[in-house]
Amino acid sequence: MINGNLLFAGLIASAACRWAESISESIYQVTIVPTGEQFACPADQSILTAAHSADILISYSCRGGQCGACMGKVHQGEIAYPNGQPDAISEAQTQQGYALFCSAFALSDLSIELIDPMRLGS
Ligand code: FES
Repeated sequence: MINGNLLFAGLIASAACRWAESISESIYQVTIVPTGEQFACPADQSILTAAHSADILISYSCRGGQCGACMGKVHQGEIAYPNGQPDAISEAQTQQGYALFCSAFALSDLSIELIDPMRLGS
């Protein structure tokens, strides 16, 4: 039987490797649901940075994966955490599709949902 934590760590490492391979000149399209707003996300920028460059506000505080203020949900597409799994998101949240946009980089076109941080706290 494969240890669940080892399998999860392997999936994260695999996504990080694919991110490193895709970093060349790729630019992905990110669509926000349900508003339909879109912005371009270069492979070498976090989703938060790319959104702010396009004047789309995503809540944030630490910008380092520590606070959870930038948490949202990825409905379609694939992301990676090139600096490793951030502290402020659990394995269960990741498996449910949640992501920290300050630390997540796109590996494909994405469909994402922004979540009011106050909603997560309730
Ligand atoms: S801004 Fe703090 S975890 Fe993303």
